[in-house]
Amino acid sequence: MNDLNAPNALPIRLDFASAVGIGDQIHKSLRLAILDGRLKSGQRLPSGRDLAAQLGVARGTIRVAYDRLAAENLVYGAGSAGTRVRAQRLATPSDHEPPIDRPLAAFTRPYSSVPQPFQMGVPAHDAFPVKLWSRIQARAARAAIDHTTYSDPRGESELRSQISSHLAVSRQVRCHPDQVIVTSGYRQSLLLTLTALQANGRKAWIEEPGYPIGRRAMELFGVVLESVQVDDEGLRVMDGIESAPDALLALVTPGQHAPLGVTLSPARRHALLKWAIERDTWIVEDDYLGELQLDGRASPALAASEGSERVIHLGSFSKTLSPQLGLGFVVAPLSLAERFIEVCAMLLPAPNRSSQLAVTEFLSNGHFLRHLRQMKDVYTERRKIATSHIRKFLPGTVAAGLGLISPLPTKIDDRVIVDIARSQGLAPSALSHWYVNRTHAQNGLLLSVTNLHMRNIDAACEKLAEIITSQSS
Ligand SMILES: Cc1ncc(COP(=O)(O)O)c(C=O)c1O
Repeated sequence: MNDLNAPNALPIRLDFASAVGIGDQIHKSLRLAILDGRLKSGQRLPSGRDLAAQLGVARGTIRVAYDRLAAENLVYGAGSAGTRVRAQRLATPSDHEPPIDRPLAAFTRPYSSVPQPFQMGVPAHDAFPVKLWSRIQARAARAAIDHTTYSDPRGESELRSQISSHLAVSRQVRCHPDQVIVTSGYRQSLLLTLTALQANGRKAWIEEPGYPIGRRAMELFGVVLESVQVDDEGLRVMDGIESAPDALLALVTPGQHAPLGVTLSPARRHALLKWAIERDTWIVEDDYLGELQLDGRASPALAASEGSERVIHLGSFSKTLSPQLGLGFVVAPLSLAERFIEVCAMLLPAPNRSSQLAVTEFLSNGHFLRHLRQMKDVYTERRKIATSHIRKFLPGTVAAGLGLISPLPTKIDDRVIVDIARSQGLAPSALSHWYVNRTHAQNGLLLSVTNLHMRNIDAACEKLAEIITSQSS
């Protein structure tokens, strides 16, 4: 074993300019060296006095670092034999072990990165107003620390007013700002709703096909799922009434069905609301795209219709602005508003104030409406170009929401294509994954167009075409 008393024998390099304390740096260096085996079991560390002199730090700093290592069971005091290394090399996760992330299969990855071509659910990376947003966010971050008490658990009142006014204009929803509760997005909104409705053990209609995250979230909450088919008029409401008339709620995407893109027809809207009114059940309206509709004018929200007292409206800023914000909202019907407020105050308070203030300014200064207008134009153009590219190798491709649906022949498994594509830097989604019942699941690809542009479309389509050809033979 080498002599640790020799100058520089220990693997410690100090950075006196660093924001990390010197004691922390010493502790971290020794800890790492013990864990990765550079310091061997039984090896004697220099005395506190010697090491302090060697490193030019106070003896107390060394003592604290050694004490921390002893508390972590990595060294022990051996009386006159000094401080010695206890730990053998610990097992560290190796690159060969599979990641523990199977429960994340419902999501289209990657996370925390620039979006990949075809990745669903993420707005155009290159069209985000970065400069404007940075200025607004910096102002908001400063303003947020003016208050050091708890924030309103429902969300900032100015933001709730802005959301209520925006909904009146864009979705024809009339609501008091106190019916609006700010959340971290769809999933918190859904949890808030299921908790407020005490949905555990109760039945709910879900769309078939439908958003896998909504479906699994309900299962995790203990809701009993009743799949109801979607056709080209949207949810087959009569099927739901026949199979589960006594359900507590229906979770639906009436504006633009996810993933098929169809809008619930007027007759079906009427039937759904009628069922909710007559049976005292609830409609949970997932309005994830809001007015971001590329074909014609978006129809009003269900929460704007007669019968809106049975509708719980969920909105999100993930598609209209960015999922990075982590902001969404619930509009609770008047009869449930207090119940929702109580659940959010006790269990699910609104997320951090500075993002809320930034979105408030974005909404109140007219940036949001302008941004939405621009994004509709950008996506319409991208969808047109992408459709003509993709139809060359997937002729059945049709538009749906902010993307395309490309049916695949049965001999090509959409999940296999998705796996191969992911390994090559593309992120299509498998349509079959959106079905509960595999026997009538459609086989195909969901291809978002939001991040396809002149710089990547040729290469992305070429790669996808090659992958499909390789699986066809
Ligand atoms: C059907 C559906 N609902 C809701 C959302 C929004 O989720 P979040 O607010 O968690 O970003 C998405 C996002 O992809 C979606 O596809």
